[in-house]
Amino acid sequence: SVYEHGISAVDKGEFKHFMLKEIYEQPDVMAQVLEGRIASGHVLEQAFGVDAKRVFDQVKQVQIVACGTSYHAGMVAKYWFEELIGLPCMVEVASEFRYRSVVIREGTLLITLSQSGETADTLAALRDVKSQILASLSICNVPGSSLVRESDLCLMTNAGPEIGVASTKAFTSQLVALLLTCLVIGRRHGLSSEQEKQIVTDLQNLPTLTRAILDLDEPVKAMAEAFAEKHHALFLGRGALYPIALEGALKLKEISYIHAEGYPAGELKHGPLALVDKDMPVVTVAPNNEMLDKLKANLQEVRARGGELFVFAGCEQTLKSEEGMQVIALPACSKLMEPIVYTLPLQLLSYHVAVLKGTDVDQPRNLAKSVTVE
Ligand code: G6P
Repeated sequence: SVYEHGISAVDKGEFKHFMLKEIYEQPDVMAQVLEGRIASGHVLEQAFGVDAKRVFDQVKQVQIVACGTSYHAGMVAKYWFEELIGLPCMVEVASEFRYRSVVIREGTLLITLSQSGETADTLAALRDVKSQILASLSICNVPGSSLVRESDLCLMTNAGPEIGVASTKAFTSQLVALLLTCLVIGRRHGLSSEQEKQIVTDLQNLPTLTRAILDLDEPVKAMAEAFAEKHHALFLGRGALYPIALEGALKLKEISYIHAEGYPAGELKHGPLALVDKDMPVVTVAPNNEMLDKLKANLQEVRARGGELFVFAGCEQTLKSEEGMQVIALPACSKLMEPIVYTLPLQLLSYHVAVLKGTDVDQPRNLAKSVTVE
């Protein structure tokens, strides 16, 4: 089976591309991020470094800085920090953060997110504000990288080497690491031991859940055919799934060279609706949460203008395939896991579109894996 590959060997094995291999490694990676970080249903704060307790006791807000896909992980974390534990969280792309006069409040934990740990702008952002912050935490995939060495605390994502330029397993492992961070800080902000245990259980179930998602590869591949001849695509989501829409759009543009934009679905009528016609496929991540009814109203607006819908839904009962709307139902999951779970079908979709178009999936034109210069 495709799951039998260890995550250490850096060769493609039976996979046609590194990207596909890395997508399929995600169930293993979901377990690797938790390895050694959990005891009796709780997150071990020592996993973040010797100074973790002192730092976490004093955090009053979080500032996340990152680039590219890592920035999208940061955007998801903002929803978690503010919704779950009521801690203010700001997120900014490093290339903006470092070149403007930022106001750093007392008690700020700076979290840098980076697969490589060498992204020039992210590193510069850390160096710039070091003297003003409470402490820095690096969530990173490369041990011994510059960001890890220069940060006070670190949590490695343990995803193994990522070769495909378009980031996949590094992103989902960052999301897990961010949730672990949210839990350890959350204890100081009213998160109960029971809540933490429940979330840890959900996280421990991710290998099974993500494996079930990868079993949907065939329907996703069939869906990809509708995109091969298109020049544009729109990705919609709401809440913590809005950054996932952005990430889905980024994956598609990076590897298939189709112009794609991610939008919070509620913004549709403030612009992008003008673009919708039969040549503009609209991909939507629509888990079965309290925003579903609002989202369905947005989908109606697209259908009414002849836009073709491609929906990843949480429930077969509420959204069914019909003329102009293809629905793939995903297994049920808890709300916090949704951003992680819904990322996978979007990765597969962009991968299959790129293969159909014959692009260089692992090394897209003009892009680099690690951007160590400005
Ligand atoms: C490049 C890569 C992206 C990545 C971004 C940030 O643009 O092509 O896949 O998301 O850099 O990289 P980092 O290593 O800091 O996560």
